[in-house]
Amino acid sequence: MKKTIEEHAARFDEHSGSYDEDQDSAEYRACASLVVEHAAPEPDDTVLDLGTGTGAIALALAGDATRVVGRDISDGMMDEARSKATEAGIENVAFGEGSFREPGVDESVDVVVSNFAMHHLDDGEKHEAIEAIAALGPRKFVLGDVMFFGEPDPDEPFYSPDVDDPATVGTLADALTDAGFSLTAVERVHDQVGVLVAERADGSAAADE
Ligand SMILES: C[S@@+](CC[C@H](N)C(=O)[O-])C[C@H]1O[C@@H](n2cnc3c(N)ncnc32)[C@H](O)[C@@H]1O
Repeated sequence: MKKTIEEHAARFDEHSGSYDEDQDSAEYRACASLVVEHAAPEPDDTVLDLGTGTGAIALALAGDATRVVGRDISDGMMDEARSKATEAGIENVAFGEGSFREPGVDESVDVVVSNFAMHHLDDGEKHEAIEAIAALGPRKFVLGDVMFFGEPDPDEPFYSPDVDDPATVGTLADALTDAGFSLTAVERVHDQVGVLVAERADGSAAADE
């Protein structure tokens, strides 16, 4: 059954304290590494991490960018992210409330990333989220997530139909190209996990057009 945004937030609040230690699968680590690798921000870039959670991607990219902005719907997850930033002495990261469809970002963004989060939206919502991301004008969007390369299989890891609503790679590719991106890389980590790299077709940020 489809969960509301409030139900997702409450679920992640509840598990925020143990979230990091629970992410022990090789596929999660591989997906996160590929997102960081493909994001490859320039030193003067601002990066937006949507569904930032406890900040795994945001904190990994902080040393490579001028500024990283993390957005999430779960205060509990972002409290963990803030503690980790403080502990590591990272000062160019800011975490705040925002959703995929309403990121609540009013600054210029060069690169958008997201890891293991967008699959909580249904396909129509993902389409709207990708349109909202394109409207922020990044030159690149790197999406690591649960996605189907073959037939969906709830008996295989990463897909629990009670809380997840992943899309096929084809549906995501269509949404990205509809929003004006070109798909420049597809990385299959598992039959139900992958990373898509989408770049502005003209190679420049929409805000510059
Ligand atoms: C599995 S965690 C992934 C966290 C992090 N990106 C990582 O790689 O570890 C999913 C995160 O997505 C967030 N989330 C779920 N639905 C969301 C939405 N509609 N907008 C923004 N964040 C959302 C959850 O609160 C949670 O922190």
